Amino acid sequence: MADSVCRELIVKAIFICLLKLAFSYSFRSCIELPESNHKIFRCIKCHETDITTIVGDVFPTATNLTISRNNITYIQGQSFSHLPSLTSLVLDDNHIVNIHRDAFNNLQKLKTLNLSCNHISFLHRDVFNDLHNLTDLLLGNNNLKSIDMFLFSNLTNLNILDLRRNHLKNFSALVECITNLSSLIQLDLSFNYLTNLQHSSRLPNSLVRLYLSDNKLHKLGCDKSFLKYVKVLDLSDNTLLSSKSFKGLNLKNIKYLRLRFTNVSASKLLNYTKIQPRYVDFSGLKLKDRALTSLCFHLKVYQISKMILQSNSIGVLKKNTFCNCANITDVMDLSQNEIKSTGCLQFLHCQNQLKTLKIEHNHLTRLMFCNTSTQLDSMKNLSYRYNRILEVSGNAFSNTPKLTNLELNINIIAYLDHKALRGLKDLVTLRLDNNLLTDIYSDSFQDLTSLKTLNLRNNQLSVIFDYVFQNLSNLRILDLGGNKITQLKPHALDGLQRLAKLYLDRNRLKEIDGTLFGKLHATLQVLDLQANHILYYTEHTYSPFINMSKLLDLKLDGQQPNGINLLPCAFFRGLTSLKSLYLTNNHIIGFGAETFDDLKSLEYLTLDNSCVGIAQLKPGIFKNLRKLKTLSTENMGIKSFSEAVFGNLTGLKQLHLNRNAMMTLDISLLDKLTNLTYVDMRSCPLSCNCQNSDLQNWTIGSKRLQFPYLFSITCQDQPGSYFHNFLTNVCYLDIALYLFSSTFTFTILLTLIPLLYIKLYWKFKYSYYVFRSWFGEQWRRLKDQEEKYKYDAFISYNSADEDWVMEQLLPNLEGSSFQLCLHHRDFELGRDIVDNIVAAVYSSRKTICVVSQSFLRSEWCSLEIQLASYRLFQEMQDVLLLVFLEPIPERQLSTYHRMRKVMLKKTYLQWPGSDCSDPNSAKELFWNKLKRALRSSNTGSQEKQKMKEQNDQKRQDKEGADQEEREYFVNQTPVDDEVYYLMP
Ligand SMILES: *[C@@H]1O[C@H](CO)[C@@H](O)[C@H](O)[C@H]1NC(C)=O
Ligand SMILES: *[C@@H]1O[C@H](CO)[C@@H](O)[C@H](O)[C@H]1NC(C)=O
Repeated sequence: MADSVCRELIVKAIFICLLKLAFSYSFRSCIELPESNHKIFRCIKCHETDITTIVGDVFPTATNLTISRNNITYIQGQSFSHLPSLTSLVLDDNHIVNIHRDAFNNLQKLKTLNLSCNHISFLHRDVFNDLHNLTDLLLGNNNLKSIDMFLFSNLTNLNILDLRRNHLKNFSALVECITNLSSLIQLDLSFNYLTNLQHSSRLPNSLVRLYLSDNKLHKLGCDKSFLKYVKVLDLSDNTLLSSKSFKGLNLKNIKYLRLRFTNVSASKLLNYTKIQPRYVDFSGLKLKDRALTSLCFHLKVYQISKMILQSNSIGVLKKNTFCNCANITDVMDLSQNEIKSTGCLQFLHCQNQLKTLKIEHNHLTRLMFCNTSTQLDSMKNLSYRYNRILEVSGNAFSNTPKLTNLELNINIIAYLDHKALRGLKDLVTLRLDNNLLTDIYSDSFQDLTSLKTLNLRNNQLSVIFDYVFQNLSNLRILDLGGNKITQLKPHALDGLQRLAKLYLDRNRLKEIDGTLFGKLHATLQVLDLQANHILYYTEHTYSPFINMSKLLDLKLDGQQPNGINLLPCAFFRGLTSLKSLYLTNNHIIGFGAETFDDLKSLEYLTLDNSCVGIAQLKPGIFKNLRKLKTLSTENMGIKSFSEAVFGNLTGLKQLHLNRNAMMTLDISLLDKLTNLTYVDMRSCPLSCNCQNSDLQNWTIGSKRLQFPYLFSITCQDQPGSYFHNFLTNVCYLDIALYLFSSTFTFTILLTLIPLLYIKLYWKFKYSYYVFRSWFGEQWRRLKDQEEKYKYDAFISYNSADEDWVMEQLLPNLEGSSFQLCLHHRDFELGRDIVDNIVAAVYSSRKTICVVSQSFLRSEWCSLEIQLASYRLFQEMQDVLLLVFLEPIPERQLSTYHRMRKVMLKKTYLQWPGSDCSDPNSAKELFWNKLKRALRSSNTGSQEKQKMKEQNDQKRQDKEGADQEEREYFVNQTPVDDEVYYLMP
């Protein structure tokens, strides 16, 4: 088990090292924003609920991390400690209930922490301890009932604290929490359960914005100067709050006070506090009719720039209503009232400095003819959005001739008089969108020579007639989207000399009129033709954009009802500056290989869902798009990611291949697209077989290329398993195992051979010959069982001792009629020496080794001893007789030939040298003994049995005797008559 895991690891390691295929990365639950340089990460709507798992693989370089809309309930300690560079951490909209006290440890650089929209009811006082640099802390939409006094104590850099929509009741305790936050600028306590503003500590002097709307405040109860430094104060929607609470309160510094839907009387407020009226938002204070008139009376002595009077139920504005007020210099906002008619703005006749008037969300139905004497020359911006205006009469704006900005959008204007906009020569922006206009006339916009933006979106226009825009020579943006335009008359766009953006999306145009748009070629940059009815059936060379070399952005996506069908092959000719092209949702039957040839500046191309069935992207179709940075080809039925098609996109950074039919991806091609940082391959039927083993390897590794959502890609061919971890070891087994085992064996051999050579050289050599002799013997036995011994003894000796053999041994033994075998005399010529030796040993009854110093130095002699010993041990035939010509120290026997053991087990005779006292009788004894030994037979089975018994007896006798004793016993027998057998 462990073995196979280990092997797998080794195999993988070897593979990765050898082939270096790892070039991309992915995250389990997050994605890195493309081109964010490993800094911005999003982990949204993942199935994982464990926060440490979600963020575990995010790179430590991350500065912005957003983890939203997950089912996280708990934030563990040290969850982000591997992300010390974080400056923004957004954890909103999860289900967080608990946060460990060490959850945000190590986030010293964090500036923004957003915990909004969770279920937090408790925060440990140490939880923000490490966040010294935090500036924005957002805790809105939670269940906090109270807050620990020391919770914020380390947040010395905090600017913004958001606690809206919690269950906070105790204002005093809250002030205590923040009183030392000397950088705090904004505190939001809206939508809580505060009932008063009693306090035992001061607000930090830095606090300038305090939001307390939608609480249960019924009194304030704070010190008079408690709000001394506050500049923006919102107390709205505290319906029980009344004017008396403000008695004596110092609101001198207030720059914006909001009190809508409280019980406060505006006049009393101005009496009770020293607030500057111009900083009060008078919305929602029931200021209508007389109350409004009397308010103005109060304001007489003040200069007011903004008069905000929203939501006061104002229905009628009398001519003198605002005449008591001092001049309002900037804005009057009467939105969300009940005004039915503005007449000709007579109620402003004494306000001749007003620049902006907003009457949105009222009940206006008609803008009337206003060629009156009341001229509001200061009026620049007029907004009547969100009314019920059906009709705009001629000269409706003659009383405000200096208008630059007119917003009539989101009404039901069906009738716009030819002369409605007469005289508005300064008008720059005209919003008529979201109405019911069916017609515009050639003189509708006649006077609007300064107009830059004309928005007619979402009306009912069906035909744009000739010359309707002809005086709009300054127009930059014309929005005609969302109408029912079927036709643009040939001169419809005449006069638009500076038009840069033309929106014609969601209309019913059936074709693109090249001559029409061609008139705009010098200036047009954006052309939006999305969702029209453009359709081509037959292949032809048609280039509607031929001169439009300034066009940057062209949208042709989603032609209704079934797509553009066919792209004429030279369709995009001339668009040499185009940067973005949208062709999604178009059911195009194949693209010609030249389709995009002219688009040399293209940076963004989306073709999502643009094909019927299988897309046939022709080789070379993108060949000129070297500046393309983003290519989106989702759901095009693309089957292969081939070099011929994609190979030239060398500038490509993002590639979206989701929902295509490709089962694999060519890694070498991806590697060639060196600028690529993001490849999205979700919902492609990637197969989990060996064909993709390299891809799997490739998708995890270095930091060049992000392969988002990798961990959720499943195997097409193995339901239930995942692409990122399907088993690939079988794919690499052949090569890797081969590499592994050969390297391994080689290394082992390199290590062992020298050791073996030193330690066991002789053993091997002998074993080899012993084996050979054994084998030879078996063979010979089979062949010639009855063969008799040819010699009585084979004499093994070294040539240095030849003299002794010839002069002493030979005459003595052959004289006594023993047949001797001598190698120089009896060995067969031409036969292998080893075979000769074997033959000699086996055809002689005994082997006599003549041992001397020279003998021991000869390896052949050792072999002869070995062979003879073999017969002793294996065949129970004692054939070896050792004759020592000179005394040999035992030590030498061991060191020279490692044959000590063999020697110790054998009988030997010592040749009495010349230094003997009586050499002649000693020599005679020697010869007698030798002859007796030679004569002693050892072949009979009876004798063998006897020997064995003898041996057993001896062994019993010697039991317990140690090695030294045995050596001694043997060593003292050189002249003894006895023959001893010491069997192993
Ligand atoms: C905190 O912010 C300041 C100023 O932005 C910066 O100089 C300091 O290094 C930051 N501290 C840490 C721990 O990042
Ligand atoms: C914090 O999260 C809330 C809730 O999703 C969101 O409305 C708000 O814009 C976020 N604020 C910041 C500063 O990210």
